[in-house]
Amino acid sequence: MSSTIIPDLSPHFVPLNELPEQLDWREYFGNDQSVELDVGCGRGLFVFRASEEHPERNYVGIELDFKKARRGALRLNKQDRPNGRIWGGDANLALDKIIRPHSVAAVHVYFPDPWWKKKHRRRRIFTDEFINRAVRILEHEGYLHFWTDVEDYWEVAASLMNHDSRFVPREAPEEQQPEHDMDYQTSFERKKRKIGSTIYRGLWQLKPV
Ligand SMILES: C[S@@+](CC[C@H](N)C(=O)[O-])C[C@H]1O[C@@H](n2cnc3c(N)ncnc32)[C@H](O)[C@@H]1O
Repeated sequence: MSSTIIPDLSPHFVPLNELPEQLDWREYFGNDQSVELDVGCGRGLFVFRASEEHPERNYVGIELDFKKARRGALRLNKQDRPNGRIWGGDANLALDKIIRPHSVAAVHVYFPDPWWKKKHRRRRIFTDEFINRAVRILEHEGYLHFWTDVEDYWEVAASLMNHDSRFVPREAPEEQQPEHDMDYQTSFERKKRKIGSTIYRGLWQLKPV
């Protein structure tokens, strides 16, 4: 009988069910740095690049698909990256149970599944409920980033955000010419730009209270 040995990628890969409720970021990362989340991080290119570019911040990607999540974690693990982690599981659960209120500087949502069929639209992650979840965990004047290539998803998300009095729209980053094949925000951005899709980018900031 053959058995597959799954390499131990801790601390870079952690399934959500191994994390405590109301986790203390300072204990978890062993530092006081701000924390940013990538919801549905796929293979974790954003977490990998951002944690390299900003060693003064911590990044956590959350991904439902353990295979993709582990792939992202492997890259971080090989470099023993201190400020990047990938959690395997449902981001909604993490936002509700694991992440403490007002403890995250930014939430990034890049190219969420479009659920094209009308009858499946309610499975989309970026909804008014999700925005409430994000507001609960965001710090004072925290940021929410949303990018997609799906025009109708963009229209719905941008309309929800622009009508939400808790946020102010900020200028989203301009499209950059990539210098190499890893020079994209995420793997999906690379895939979509290579086929010439329009990318819609949004950035909002919580208003000071
Ligand atoms: C289209 S992919 C985009 C991945 C990545 N953000 C990128 O831009 O390359 C969407 C990802 O979201 C993940 N996903 C969907 N629902 C999720 C949830 N509730 N929690 C965590 N990940 C989720 C999917 O498994 C998939 O990998």
